[in-house]
Amino acid sequence: MLGLTVRPVPLEHTRSLRRDVLRPHLRVQELAAHEPPGAVAFGAFDGEELVGVGLVGADGSPGAWRIRGMATAPHARGRGAGTAVLDALVRHAVQQGATRVWCNARTPALSLYRRAGFSARSDEFELPAIGPHVVMELALGRHHEPTRQVAVTRVPPAGDRADGNLTVKDRSLNYGMTPDR
Ligand SMILES: CC(C)(COP(=O)(O)OP(=O)(O)OC[C@H]1O[C@@H](n2cnc3c(N)ncnc32)[C@H](O)[C@@H]1OP(=O)(O)O)[C@@H](O)C(=O)NCCC(=O)NCCS
Repeated sequence: MLGLTVRPVPLEHTRSLRRDVLRPHLRVQELAAHEPPGAVAFGAFDGEELVGVGLVGADGSPGAWRIRGMATAPHARGRGAGTAVLDALVRHAVQQGATRVWCNARTPALSLYRRAGFSARSDEFELPAIGPHVVMELALGRHHEPTRQVAVTRVPPAGDRADGNLTVKDRSLNYGMTPDR
């Protein structure tokens, strides 16, 4: 985790890594079709190298935001990049008024989401050419539970607030999640 910096990145800067890791059968230009309108991307950097990415955007019923495109370069996995990007995406969604955050999680990545407070909302299902998935959801409420610390530098998007549980100085994953229903 040490040495990684997380900050917003333009969507187009994420497409090459997402294509290589998640959709090698697509061309980079085709990745745009998998981006929710108005989506925002965050990236984890090791120095100047973009090693992890993810997107979030409003998708579904009012208040629902969806995480997509979570990908870390193979040589950079297991250092907290995915956890930190996921945290930044959830925080962004919360700041924009999300009441729940969801994703179609690949089954090998389930523990990443569980550790961030997500829980399963579907049985396992197969997406053609990609593999088994489970709908995971983080319900956001009034309860605040301290969770694990993430030792990365988090750079907020423009307009980020510096109060409540959304401050950059607060490096916990405490974004007001409720436990499993
Ligand atoms: C899932 C992924 C984004 C995690 O990135 P990361 O930077 O390694 O994440 P962290 O270091 O914060 O946490 C590691 C977690 O990632 C998951 N993970 C590790 N290696 C993985 C792999 N090869 N494939 C999928 N998930 C993996 C594990 O759940 C691990 O959690 P654990 O510590 O409880 O075992 C990254 O492994 C990846 O790009 N995997 C392939 C693409 C993918 O499955 N994306 C998720 C789509 S929903």
